[in-house]
Amino acid sequence: MATPIIALASTKGGVGKTTLAFCLATTLARRLSNVSDDRNTGISVDRDTDMPVFCLDADPNQTLFQTIRRGKPQGVGADVATSDTLLEAVTEASQRSQMVLIDLEGSSNQAMLYACGKANLVLIPAQPSMFDVVEAMKTAAVVARAADLTGRPIDCRVVLTRTPVLRQRVTEHSRRQFEQRGLAMLSTELVERAAFRMMTYTGKSPLEDDPEGGAAGNVEAMAAEVAALVGLKL
Ligand SMILES: Nc1ncnc2c1ncn2[C@@H]1O[C@H](COP(=O)(O)OP(=O)(O)OP(=O)(O)O)[C@@H](O)[C@H]1O
Ligand SMILES: [Mg+2]
Repeated sequence: MATPIIALASTKGGVGKTTLAFCLATTLARRLSNVSDDRNTGISVDRDTDMPVFCLDADPNQTLFQTIRRGKPQGVGADVATSDTLLEAVTEASQRSQMVLIDLEGSSNQAMLYACGKANLVLIPAQPSMFDVVEAMKTAAVVARAADLTGRPIDCRVVLTRTPVLRQRVTEHSRRQFEQRGLAMLSTELVERAAFRMMTYTGKSPLEDDPEGGAAGNVEAMAAEVAALVGLKL
C-alpha cells in the first residue's frame, strides 16, 4: 500500500492543527510500532520500523518540529520544509515511513496548495464558532483547487477541536452548520483538555503521560478513525 499522506490545513491560525498533528503522530507511531514488532502476524515490514510516522513542519514557526525534537516521542521523525522543499520532502518521507503528516501555517499559501496536492486526506481543524465555519469553507476551497490541479479527488474532513468535555448546544449547532455547507466531518472531536496543553511543554504524548486519562482515550479514538479513512491497518 502507498504511504498515506495527511495534511493539517486551515486558513485560520490557532485552530489546533499542530496539537492535532502531534496527537495523531504520536498515537499512530505507537500503534504502528506495535504492528511492526509483531513479526508473527505475517505483516511484511520493509520500511524503517523505528520511525513509522514522519512529520513535515511547513510552518515557519516550527512549532511541531520543535515539540518533537524536545520530547523525542517514540517512532516519530520530523523535519521542517518550505514551499520550495515540501514536494521533494514529502516524496522522500513517504519512501521511508508508513505515514506522513504535514503541518501547515494558519494562512492560505503555496505550501498549503502543495501539501493538499500530495495528500490522501486533508484534515481541517475548526473550533465550534461561525468564524471557523467560514474559514473551513475557504480551506476546503483550496483543497478543491489542489484536486483540480492534480486531476484526482482529495478526501477532506473538518475536525472539531477544543470542544467542551460536557456537551453543549453550540457544538451540535456548529456541527450542523458545517454539514449544511457540505463539509464532511470526523465523528471524533478533540476535546478541550489541560493534557493537550501540557503536552506542548513535555513533548510527550498523552498516552505516555497518563495512559488511563481522558486525553489518551480521545487521541486513541481520533487515531483509529483517521487510520481507517486512509486505509491504514493498526
Ligand atoms: N484540544 C485542546 N485542548 C486544550 N488546548 C488546546 C487544544 N487544541 C489546541 N489547544 C491550544 O490552543 C492553542 C492553539 O493550538 P495550536 O497551536 O495547535 O493551533 P494551530 O492551528 O497549529 O495554530 P497556528 O495556526 O498558529 O499554527 C495552543 O495554545 C494549544 O495549546
Ligand atoms: Mg500550528
